[in-house]
Amino acid sequence: MESIQPHQERQQWIDAERRTGVVRAAAAAGLVGEQRVAAGFLDVDGIRRTVAGLRAAFGTDTTVLHTFAVKAAALVPVLRLVADAGMGCEVASPGELALALAAGVPPERIVLDSPAKTGAELAQALRLGIAVNADNLAEVERIAVLIDGRAPASLLGLRVNPQVGAGSIGAMSTASEHSKFGEPLRDPGARERIRAAFARHHWLTRLHVHVGSQGCPLDLIAAGVHAVWELAEEINERAGRRQVTSLDLGGGLPVNFADDRITPTHADYAAHLRAAVPGLFDGGYALVTEFGRSVVAKHGFTVARVEYTKTVGGRRIALTHAGGHLATRTVFMPDSWPLRISVHRPDGTPRTGATEAQDVAGPLCFAGDLVARDRELPRIEAGDLVVLHDTGGYCTSAPWAYNSVPRPAVHGFSTAGGETGFATVRPEQSLAEVVAESGGACADALTGFGAGAGVAVGRGLGVGLGAGFDAGLDAGLGAGPVPVQRT
Ligand SMILES: Cc1ncc(COP(=O)(O)O)c(C=O)c1O
Repeated sequence: MESIQPHQERQQWIDAERRTGVVRAAAAAGLVGEQRVAAGFLDVDGIRRTVAGLRAAFGTDTTVLHTFAVKAAALVPVLRLVADAGMGCEVASPGELALALAAGVPPERIVLDSPAKTGAELAQALRLGIAVNADNLAEVERIAVLIDGRAPASLLGLRVNPQVGAGSIGAMSTASEHSKFGEPLRDPGARERIRAAFARHHWLTRLHVHVGSQGCPLDLIAAGVHAVWELAEEINERAGRRQVTSLDLGGGLPVNFADDRITPTHADYAAHLRAAVPGLFDGGYALVTEFGRSVVAKHGFTVARVEYTKTVGGRRIALTHAGGHLATRTVFMPDSWPLRISVHRPDGTPRTGATEAQDVAGPLCFAGDLVARDRELPRIEAGDLVVLHDTGGYCTSAPWAYNSVPRPAVHGFSTAGGETGFATVRPEQSLAEVVAESGGACADALTGFGAGAGVAVGRGLGVGLGAGFDAGLDAGLGAGPVPVQRT
């Protein structure tokens, strides 16, 4: 533990000078610029430091499995990195489970929380020994049928909605009165129904709570954890034994998007819980956490090229390659998810000096595709690079496919060796891959049946768009006219 403490002290700020150095190195290496118009960057050293800080925050007296919420950065190398640093994974879909397994995370360090698990998903989790948190009592009964009286290899729990209220972003608040998540605790008769389920199913040994994420203050999170701890005590008292042996506290530590300070820290979170729910740490319960955003958000940024600038209605606007496909929440809910932006010259050096109010737009075809509105920034010029800060979670790693813009590359970086080193985490999506994921292999699917089936044009296209077409598209990217081949 001693060796972790210095890291904890250092991790209170993101080093802005170091980040600028990385942007310059990325531009010099051609990772972003005229040919590659956007890319995400993740700080490997920073992520390792934060995971070490999280582990240190809980100390060594309590048994804790810290899992990483895969949704925050659904990238296999990132999952392997956090696993290497000591975390498991929290997964919420069959795809996320596949990614965690592909990263080599052992099943016993994976927790399945999908809100609407199918029978097949549950059966797979039970077969592999993956922990499952049932969303509701109907799901508990489905698990009971699958177990069919056998001793399960999986740790099994129930997600509870403590109904302690919402934070400042309704869409991120999961413990509100009508939240879609978990079995409500305060509805009439709900507590009794939950206790009865635990009495019926001795294999239910865990309670899960996730009060919410960004916008939920520590007091609200602690109130939810307290409510679920109380429920566990009550179940155990009724059972006359310690039936509930572990509590899954979810994730949700809010991230500071306003500046480079890391606040609150995981140490703040643990201290808050120790004060509000001391019983959590008396050794009676093993704990699970599921942090996502607070592990990666501040250790990532997105760089995009400015293609054009113009003045519209008296205001300057920069047309860039960073838009709603990379910062979806910011574009649709700008007041809840504001992002800091800095402006750099094409070589990555920051533009400083006089500022003026400008819009920073993305490349998508709708008017609201703006990552900043009327923002005071140094004058942006065509060919410049804009940096979107704190986008290591839920942004470039979770792109939106609107307008079929190819997904940009994501690179990890480290400065541990003195110089900046880069590693590709996810290559840029090729145009052939865009076509493939958009039904390219099914081109004839709709013209081959129904009224008018077999009309020549449909058939002709289906035959013509083959491997040569794919190769032509990718060869054409950034290298002049696209040679489309039709046979
Ligand atoms: C069940 C559950 N656990 C963990 C998380 C991760 O939350 P965060 O990224 O805010 O830490 C979420 C986020 O939606 C969640 O729904």
